[in-house]
Amino acid sequence: MSRMIVPHTTPTPTPTRTVRKAVVPAAGLGTRFLPATKATPKEMLPVVDKPAIQYVVEEAAAAGLDDVLMVTGRHKRAIEDHFDNAYELEQALAAKGDSVRLDAVRDPARLANIHHIRQGEPLGLGHAVLCARRHVGDEPFAVLLGDDLIDPRETLLSTMLDVRDRYAGSVIALMEVPREQIHLYGCAAVEPTGDEGVVRVTGLVEKPSPENAPSAYAVIGRYVLDPAVFDTLERTEPGRGGEIQLTDALQELATGGTVHGVVFDGLRYDTGDKADYLRTVVRLACDRPDLGPEFVGWLKEFVAGLEGGGAADSERLAA
Ligand code: G1P
Repeated sequence: MSRMIVPHTTPTPTPTRTVRKAVVPAAGLGTRFLPATKATPKEMLPVVDKPAIQYVVEEAAAAGLDDVLMVTGRHKRAIEDHFDNAYELEQALAAKGDSVRLDAVRDPARLANIHHIRQGEPLGLGHAVLCARRHVGDEPFAVLLGDDLIDPRETLLSTMLDVRDRYAGSVIALMEVPREQIHLYGCAAVEPTGDEGVVRVTGLVEKPSPENAPSAYAVIGRYVLDPAVFDTLERTEPGRGGEIQLTDALQELATGGTVHGVVFDGLRYDTGDKADYLRTVVRLACDRPDLGPEFVGWLKEFVAGLEGGGAADSERLAA
């Protein structure tokens, strides 16, 4: 299933693994999804029938990380509630004998030990990671960004943890993107290591223009970071957009030769803006054994109708 080019992929965590903790920054305002995100955190928007952030926590747990710290902000209480017990709901479902829904309600709280802290001020992704310092301590840790969903059948995070065990330092996930899209991402200058699918990162720049991009390798939202990143972040000045950028701190570490990249070409879904979000929901719905067959049938008819010159509903209603 996986088309990752990395050898030695270990789908299950090794007992010697040194990374135990994951940090999930979730303090953003979600302005691209207003008004849906006026009173609901964007991380709680459903992707088919689970909130986006649950996929991320499931990914961390599947890679053996059983301690997850959410870095949230104001108006994010729904995230805390989602990963907590829901006593009344559980009682009601148990009384009805609805064990399927009861499991669905209980699962989020059972995935990992989940902790929450608040970022306080929206000073950027680098600052959000720095907020995790006290909780993480002097250990390597993973960072998972919620706008990138990695298909549950992929083993990207496990591979990155293996690479960290072999190379030490920090490891970032990279994906080749069309040049015209590189301005949406951090971008890495790389050189080969001799290990297929693993590169040495020699430089990083946050959201460069295509002309100034050192490569077409985009940083996607998975990182395994050495705790040295905290000291670097303490010194990192606000960069692009006036925010403290994680990319800028990693650029400093990269000049010391301690950052590696895992090149990923598997299934990744972007939920960062409305069009990408819609594509993600449709793709994942098509792939669901319980919903897919019927939904795909409907989708084919719907698309055939559009292609056959049939009007979209809005045009029909306006006629
Ligand atoms: C953040 C990072 C960027 C990275 C991206 C991946 O940007 O700053 O380096 O490429 O996530 O999704 P954001 O999308 O939050 O602006």
